[in-house]
Amino acid sequence: MKLLTIETTCDETAAAVVTDRLEVLSSVVASQDALHERFGGVVPEIASRAHVERILPVIDEALRKANLSLSELDAVAVANTPGLAGSLLVGLAAAKALCVACDLQAHIYACRLASGQEVFPCVGLVVSGGHSNLYRCAGPTDFTPLGGTIDDAAGEAFDKVASLLGLPYPGGPSIERAARGGDARRYRFPRPLLDDPERLDFSFSGLKTAVRYLVAGPGKLNVAAGGSSAFMPIGEPRATMSTGEPPVTTEVADVAASFQEAVFDCLVGKAELALEKTGYKTLCVGGGVAANGRFRERLEESANSRGYVFHVPPPALCTDNAVMGAIAIERYRAGLFEDLSLDIGPGPERAAGQ
Ligand code: KG4
Repeated sequence: MKLLTIETTCDETAAAVVTDRLEVLSSVVASQDALHERFGGVVPEIASRAHVERILPVIDEALRKANLSLSELDAVAVANTPGLAGSLLVGLAAAKALCVACDLQAHIYACRLASGQEVFPCVGLVVSGGHSNLYRCAGPTDFTPLGGTIDDAAGEAFDKVASLLGLPYPGGPSIERAARGGDARRYRFPRPLLDDPERLDFSFSGLKTAVRYLVAGPGKLNVAAGGSSAFMPIGEPRATMSTGEPPVTTEVADVAASFQEAVFDCLVGKAELALEKTGYKTLCVGGGVAANGRFRERLEESANSRGYVFHVPPPALCTDNAVMGAIAIERYRAGLFEDLSLDIGPGPERAAGQ
């Protein structure tokens, strides 16, 4: 069976062809980073226009690389939720015009694909630019949300803190680079909700504000050799990728490392709590933030000390891609189809009662 999968939830236009044996016949990702870089974040209108321009060439290329024509496909899968409304609409319209659904859960399924092993039942943790969600994953088509962020997503906090520190977009990789060699114990940032044993939720907005006060608030951190501030005031143009990596002072490295550690304490702590509450012994992590080397190290340490199995896909399958849309094969097998009345589900996904 051959499946075309389409992903336009945010700012990557992606299509892939996968088989029911989970072979990846092709994977094409057109990134829009260069278009959004100077704004320091994704501009929804620009993202949807760029998807309109790219979706057909990306699908064409995925089919060409897989050496297949449209008529040789058995099904089309599209991520219809969650994400930016304008972006989702472009992928969904393309899929309807060509026709089934899949979603955020695909990030967890990337672990199944990458490990080549059965991973269910497991706790799923998706940490991206728009989401920080925990799931009870009883099986590949049976996901129950356990909790999620009540304000900013983890990736969003990385992007905003990077901007505060004058580091280029996307902020996650910039902070990771800046944090190397930094002292993660220098600043003690808050770990919101971490001490609440009843909640499987996250909150990163206060943490971001704590960094903001340190960097730009009253009594702001005074830094840097040569008397110039290592922190560019908020509102000034940031350094861009095209001008190369900006110099990183010890202060920036220490703030980046301390911030990163606070985020990972929360993510790892709540994943451990979800494993305890569900009794499951496997954790699958996906989403752009899971590409972070220090986060992967922290998860590995936790898995080793607590005796659970932990899966994370290679970094290229953590950020948005269409290969993970292979989860639709499970829906196909389970006879779960959609008709052409299928609609988008923009915005964050919430657990019951959240
Ligand atoms: O899953 P993704 O590609 O989907 C969204 O578009 O949401 O995730 C993108 C997010 C961005 O916020 C980016 O800063 C973050 O993932 N990210 C990282 C890293 N690489 C990407 N965050 C921390 N460390 C990284 N290495």
